[in-house]
Amino acid sequence: MLSIDPTIRTWMNDAPGYLPAIAVGDVVRSGGAGVVVESNSSRYKVGDIVSGITGWQEWTIADENNHFSVIPAGLGLDLATVMNVVGLTGVTAYFGLLEVGKFHEGDVVVVSGAAGATGSVAGQIAKARGAKKVIGIAGGPEKCEEVVEKYGFDECLDYRQVHLARALHEACPKGIDVYFDNVGGEILDAVLSNIAVHGRIILCGAISQYNSMQKPKGLANTSMLIVRRARMEGFIVFQDFGSRLAEAQLELAAMVAKGTLVHQEHLVHGLEHAPEALNLLFSGGNHGKTLVVVDDSVQLA
Ligand SMILES: NC(=O)c1ccc[n+]([C@@H]2O[C@H](COP(=O)([O-])OP(=O)(O)OC[C@H]3O[C@@H](n4cnc5c(N)ncnc54)[C@H](OP(=O)(O)O)[C@@H]3O)[C@@H](O)[C@H]2O)c1
Repeated sequence: MLSIDPTIRTWMNDAPGYLPAIAVGDVVRSGGAGVVVESNSSRYKVGDIVSGITGWQEWTIADENNHFSVIPAGLGLDLATVMNVVGLTGVTAYFGLLEVGKFHEGDVVVVSGAAGATGSVAGQIAKARGAKKVIGIAGGPEKCEEVVEKYGFDECLDYRQVHLARALHEACPKGIDVYFDNVGGEILDAVLSNIAVHGRIILCGAISQYNSMQKPKGLANTSMLIVRRARMEGFIVFQDFGSRLAEAQLELAAMVAKGTLVHQEHLVHGLEHAPEALNLLFSGGNHGKTLVVVDDSVQLA
């Protein structure tokens, strides 16, 4: 099973990044999970389900440069859930909100990409930990309904329909304490104009910019960081929090078990459909975490 992440698109740009660009002709780099079919290592045994950087391919080899983690059996969770909320997606929302965003009870929180994999989890953690109000931003009425009805946000703004800066002002008249940014661009600018004094902007992703990184568009409202004494900070989950994954995973798995963390996976069947699956993230055609099922017979015990 492959994890389809927007960052795969950034790895296709021949521009400075946090990992080298994927060269023309290389296997597309991608997270994934699979079953061990042969092993010469004491680290893995045949039949283990492991996750790591598999790439868009049916078979891969673990070696000293490419380690995999064995997913423990008996978790009572299916593989798609482990690849989503209990995997790096959930962990990104967790550390982004709590560590980078320094969220605390009573904060007014805004999340973009709110119907997506990371955004839906960030908003639910904020709600569960006592946010005063959690407002989502998503594309279209169907997604906005999902954000409120399914994920329990207080409100959702359809960025394709509303004047966002004005709508945010109406929804958060005293300003936004924490903004979890998944999209960048004009939406980030609209939030900047509504940031509260000492507000925190978590730069998790900038999907609106990934197809135009050769010609990035600047922000107009950064002076609001001065006026409101606010700050923005980016992070890369596995580089900044890679040694603390278990801490987040335990809490996320407990929330799933209690039914307080709702999640949804958008499954695309067949390795040959991986490029279309990646494009869904950019058209907004995905509902929840996008995964490609390469072989349905691989299941967690
Ligand atoms: N920093 C890290 O370590 C880290 C780790 C994981 C993910 N991320 C980032 O987190 C973000 C979300 O990733 P995800 O895997 O959870 O994807 P996702 O939210 O499940 O899917 C991407 C969503 O982005 C929205 N979108 C696409 N183009 C847009 C545009 N031009 N303007 C506004 N919204 C747009 C679409 O939702 P609508 O239909 O609502 O438009 C789409 O469903 C990405 O930016 C990703 O790079 C960062």
